[in-house]
Amino acid sequence: MHVVSIYNNKGGVGKSTLTVGVAEFLSSNRKKRVLVIDLDSQASSSCSLLGHREVAHAVQSHRSITKLADRLLRTRRSLAQPNDYITERPASMVKGTPLARIDVLVPDKPGILDIEERMHRTKDAGLFRDYLKPSLSAYDFVLVDLPSHVDQRHTLVVNGLVMSDFVLIPIEPNQISLNGLPDTFELIDYACDLNQEPVPKIVGMVLNKTDKRTQQYRTKLPQILEASSQKAMPPVFNNFLPDTPKLATSTDETIDFRTLKARFDTYYDNVRRVARELEQRCDGHTPEPPPKISFGTKIRDLLDRFSLGKTSRAKADVVDFEDALT
Ligand SMILES: Nc1ncnc2c1ncn2[C@@H]1O[C@H](COP(=O)(O)OP(=O)(O)OP(=O)(O)O)[C@@H](O)[C@H]1O
Ligand SMILES: [Mg+2]
Repeated sequence: MHVVSIYNNKGGVGKSTLTVGVAEFLSSNRKKRVLVIDLDSQASSSCSLLGHREVAHAVQSHRSITKLADRLLRTRRSLAQPNDYITERPASMVKGTPLARIDVLVPDKPGILDIEERMHRTKDAGLFRDYLKPSLSAYDFVLVDLPSHVDQRHTLVVNGLVMSDFVLIPIEPNQISLNGLPDTFELIDYACDLNQEPVPKIVGMVLNKTDKRTQQYRTKLPQILEASSQKAMPPVFNNFLPDTPKLATSTDETIDFRTLKARFDTYYDNVRRVARELEQRCDGHTPEPPPKISFGTKIRDLLDRFSLGKTSRAKADVVDFEDALT
């Protein structure tokens, strides 16, 4: 089993879109058993997979990650029956590659606020790691969709990171997105400190909303690749997601998608390749060690330096990168 948090502290970079895409491909295309834990009170990935009504029904029926956390907080014992809290997105019954079953732990907004007030910031940060993770061993992948704009006070979010083996970071190749990275690394470092070992590891950064025609793409991508090649940043996935309305539509809960092709349309292969690369990297390929606490400053220095001018090495990397993807 791999537990993977999808996290970037910057909002709107594609955490939930990536969570849904990877979950669908791992379950339908790779035949993996997948659980999505949605720790964002906006419930974006839950709604995409289950629809609003089903999410509301789950919350009313006390089937949520929040109720589960409440139970762990009270008992401090592993759950014998996590299924009591899980909602199933059943497999579809159609020809082609039908969408396979995905299990979901949905959030509930007031419950999150309430439970975070009752949790001790450090003592309860490992609640999911100690009492939830052991009961999830039947899953091949547990994907944790995290919210943005969070810090050490958000103990439920920290629990998601602390229970994770890996973190997958979606980024957009623009300066505003890069500015959010130091905060992202800082919270991951904090989770490593709580675990007293370098876990979760950053499995890589996935470029999302890439548009080769933009100036931002042409100037920022070399900087990102250069920083990554110098190990000042985590590795960049070889596969990426383009900026396209079709991927925005892929999470539209009002559309009754029944197959992978219907959900991802002409971008099927892009999402498939990202999901496959995640699987391969998690299955044994040496992901980079997590950055140190001081990493944020290092990136800023590095990026400042690069913004003075591109190196030929960085330009060469862009060519390789594009060749690999097209
Ligand atoms: N590759 C893409 N091309 C076009 N639109 C995209 C792409 N990826 C995501 N989007 C759109 O960008 C918006 C933000 O995406 P998403 O909700 O996945 O980001 P997020 O990081 O989960 O946001 P939040 O921080 O609010 O949780 C959504 O409207 C989504 O449809
Ligand atoms: Mg989201």
